[in-house]
Amino acid sequence: MSTTFTLDTATSRAHPVPEPIRRLTVPAIAARKGGDPIVMLTAYTARMAQIFDRHCDMLLVGDSLGQVIYGLDTTVHVTLEMMCAHGAAVVRGSYHAVVVVDLPFGSYEASPQQAFETAARVMKETGAAAVKLEGGAVMAETITFLSQRGIPVVAHIGLTPQAVNALGGYGARGRSEAEYEKILGDARAVDAAGAFAMVVEGVVEPLGRAITAAVKCPTIGIGASPACDGQVLVAEDMLGLFERTPRFVRRFDDLAARINDAAAQYAAAVRDRSFPDADQLYAIKPAVK
Ligand code: KIV
Repeated sequence: MSTTFTLDTATSRAHPVPEPIRRLTVPAIAARKGGDPIVMLTAYTARMAQIFDRHCDMLLVGDSLGQVIYGLDTTVHVTLEMMCAHGAAVVRGSYHAVVVVDLPFGSYEASPQQAFETAARVMKETGAAAVKLEGGAVMAETITFLSQRGIPVVAHIGLTPQAVNALGGYGARGRSEAEYEKILGDARAVDAAGAFAMVVEGVVEPLGRAITAAVKCPTIGIGASPACDGQVLVAEDMLGLFERTPRFVRRFDDLAARINDAAAQYAAAVRDRSFPDADQLYAIKPAVK
């Protein structure tokens, strides 16, 4: 069953926002090439978007939500309905960052027309400013088609998780000379096609550096190079919510342990009846005469 989520960002926000809402724009991000590093994190919910918004230039509603939120084993199973629902939540939760929504596997690869229909639906239903799609030279025609029709595109090259079955795993790319040259060619192709930024994921460091020097749009690295024009991480990875930390992730917190402690304290308080206490209970008000 497919659900349609309508956009009502003007009235259905869960928090006060400054008026008028002043968001960064796609051209402002494109102009950051070689300038101040672009800060991007994933966000899938309104509350996380609210917290990250003031710190980030871009929020990515990544299809990594398949693993992070839904417990799926790969992003291949993620649906357009999931992306639209979470994209709308992140737009409602933010007012500063440029929100980018991933196009899920199978929703854009067949043709530029299919990609346009999917991307237009994402933008109408979520209010996001841009979409991201995976693939290099093979997606160049589609990127041009979308960009020329008012849909800003972030390309995603290098390790492309939607292709995990074809790639055979999530190992770093560009180790052989042939693969290095192929990915550099992908970067040049999506840049020339009109992507306003590109995510470069899981490549050997010299390749991340070489791509950044070779293209005119900003590169946003994840497991790539500090020379990239910006960096992105899956928020839950950098917050330490998972046991496994991929090599390219720095854990800025250990939230799993802290949440575990809080849950243990709550469970103990329920069991020994110390929760709730007077502070959390409603008293009967004295009758007003
Ligand atoms: O889906 C995602 O979170 C991504 C990032 C890893 C860049 O594409």
